[in-house]
Parts: sequence; structure tokens; C-alpha cells
Amino acid sequence: MSRRGLLTGGAAAVGGALVGVATSDALQQQKQQPQQQPYGRQTEPFHGNRQAGIDTPPQAAASFLAFTLHRDTDRDAIGRMLRLLTDDAARLTAGRPALGDTDADLARTPARLTVTVGFGPGLYRAAGLRSPVAALPAFPIDRLQPRWTGGDLLLQVCADDPTAVAHAQRMLVKDARPFAAVRWVQRGFRRGRGVEADGATHRNLLGQLDGTANVRTPPGAIWAGDATTLVVRRIRLEIETWDKLSRTDKELAVGRKLDTGAPLTGGKEHDEPDFSAVDSVGLPVMPDFAHVTRAHVSDERIRILRRPYSYDGEPDAGGVPDSGLIFASYQADVGAQYLPIQRRLAEQDLLNQWTTPIGSAVFAIPPGCAEGGWIGEQVLT
Ligand code: HEM
Repeated sequence: MSRRGLLTGGAAAVGGALVGVATSDALQQQKQQPQQQPYGRQTEPFHGNRQAGIDTPPQAAASFLAFTLHRDTDRDAIGRMLRLLTDDAARLTAGRPALGDTDADLARTPARLTVTVGFGPGLYRAAGLRSPVAALPAFPIDRLQPRWTGGDLLLQVCADDPTAVAHAQRMLVKDARPFAAVRWVQRGFRRGRGVEADGATHRNLLGQLDGTANVRTPPGAIWAGDATTLVVRRIRLEIETWDKLSRTDKELAVGRKLDTGAPLTGGKEHDEPDFSAVDSVGLPVMPDFAHVTRAHVSDERIRILRRPYSYDGEPDAGGVPDSGLIFASYQADVGAQYLPIQRRLAEQDLLNQWTTPIGSAVFAIPPGCAEGGWIGEQVLT
């Protein structure tokens, strides 16, 4: 029976019967699955002992914004700025317009918006305080560009919708403007919500499942009390040369399968790699210089929480892509957790041939705040 026939009622009797079946099936399904809130209306709590956007399941879109404080932004001014930014964040994450918001309609669909505030060494200096964080030491693999490096203040804005991110970003930048200038903005994305099941591991632009070994990272590895630290590295991917590799070589560089993310020693995505396994000629199945072999931390208490986003800028005039990873990692202690891994990777990691760090920044993430409080009050008062 033709589609047209069905639509014009040419086969009314049969068509009617079919439509009847479809309708009762649809009703049955609706009964079984109560209507879910559209993703756009979902919210993440803003107030609490710890800031959101860290162990929050990663949203699909992110903007990392770093600021340089104006010369005359002193401790009092920093406090005023943080009160304003906290007020904006509390409203926007709840789906309410910020004060003076001229686009209130955009605020009504926060799509799990979170705003996470971080302090760079320069903010502590301006406030006359000792900084708990410092820039990372230089590594031989680094090709850092000042335009992606450093920062006195960080706002990490994430949501399942890029429109929600853009709106929040505009409100926050507007209120920060009297106190600080935008230093860099890094926009990133993960898979769109619904493309994979919620909670599925992110797939980066090299096609790898990225985030597998995060699963068992215990809270103590992330939080020092209610504070933490964030390392942001902008890492360019050399996709053109990577694409010349065979699938097997791509898997050897990391030590995991591209399709399932399982370790090369076999099994499923979340199986532990067996670093002692050897093949028929006695070579390690997980190569010594594979990314996972070098990065692996067996003591769960000192693992890092990776929360990376992909970026994809404009190809250059010759068509070479500008793609990479905004590598963001949270850990209780940069020196004890992040640095040993980064040192091992900078020294030997097969993946280094296809990845180039071009930006780097470190921030302290202060505790969250209760309703009526503001982010940073425990640091500055
Ligand atoms: C563009 C750069 C990078 C890419 C494409 C990349 C990719 C990956 C992939 C595919 C995995 C395996 C799956 C997983 O457990 O997530 C992995 C694991 C890991 N990566 Fe990276 N990574 C990059 C940079 C870094 C950096 C800069 C660090 C830290 C300094 C890091 C630390 C780790 C750690 C700790 C693991 C887990 C190792 C384990 O215990 O199994 N990665 N990475």
C-alpha cells in the first residue's frame, strides 16, 4: 500500500486498522514511560558546601573563561565582584534571569547549567593572600601560547545547551567587566545529550573513549575539605598525521581499543588493564610507552578527575584542522596528584607525537556557599 494511499484514505479499512494498532501501542508506551522533563528545564543545585560543575555529570557544552584583574581591583573590589557573580550564577543555574537580564526568555532553559569559580595566583596576590596554587613548571613537550595561558579568575560555564552557556557567559562577563578583563575563552563540547546513554564515556576527536579510568576516582582524591584545584591545558591534536596510522597503531599508542575502550589485555571497557601480560613473543601487551601505561595511577586515593571537552576551531587556509582537547582535571593536590602524571607523560608517551600542549593554567576552586552567601567568602573574609 502506498504512503499516499494511506494519507488520502484510499485504503480506509486497512489503514484504519493499522492506525488503531499504532495508536494503542503509542498509548501503551506513554503509560510505561511517564513524560520526561525536557532536558532544557533540568537544573543542577548551585548552593552547597562544594561547588557544582566538578563531580556533576559532564554537560554537553562548556566555556572556560579566564580573566585578568584590573590593576585597581583590590581585596574589597574582588569581594564585590564575587558577590555579583555568585548572584548571577545562583539565578541563572535555577532558570531565573540575572539582575538586569534583557533576555529573560533565554534564562528559562538552563539545561543543567553550572558556573564554577576558580582563583589563579594573581587573585590571591591582589588580595594580599598567599596562593595555594602556582603555574605548572615548563615541560619539554609544551608549546604554550600566552593567549591560552594563565589567568587570575576562572569561570567554568557548562550546560547541555550551547545557548544556555552563551547567555550565562554574557551575563557573567558583563558583571565582571568593571573589575577584570577577559584574558581567554575556550569553548568546548562533548557528545550532544541523548546521542549516547547518560553516563556513557565521552568520545574525543581522536575517536577514543576518554574518561574510562575516572569511574573509581574516590571523593577524597578530588576534594581537600570542600575545596579542590583545576588544571586546564589546551592540547592541540595533530589529526592529519594521526590519521595516517593504522587502527592497530592508534590502539597501541593509548593501550585501549578504539571501539569498546577495553584495555588491550582484553575484556570490557571498565576492566583493569593487566600491565604484566605479554604476547607470544614476550612483548608487553600494554606497550611500556602507551598513554595509559604511563598515566596509570594504581593508588585510587591519588587519582585525578578528568573532565575534558573537545574543541574544533577553524581550519587554516590550507585546510589543516584546528582541533584539540580542553584537558581539565580536578584533584585535591596538584603537586601530589597531577604533577607526577604530567612528568611521566612529558618524559615518555607515544601519544605525544600527535598532541601538543598550547595553553596551561591552574586555579584553586574554593568551597561552595549557602543561600545568601557568596563564593570566595571563606577565602577573602
Ligand atoms: C590530548 C591529550 C590527551 C588525550 C587525547 C588523552 C586520551 C586518553 C585516553 C583515550 C585514555 C584512556 C581511557 C581513559 O581512562 O580515559 C586516557 C587515560 C588517561 N589519561 Fe589521558 N589523554 C590526554 C592527555 C592527558 C593528560 C595531559 C593527562 C595528565 C597529565 C592525562 C592523564 C590520563 C590518565 C590519568 C588516564 C587514566 C590512566 C589509567 O589509570 O588507566 N591524559 N587518556
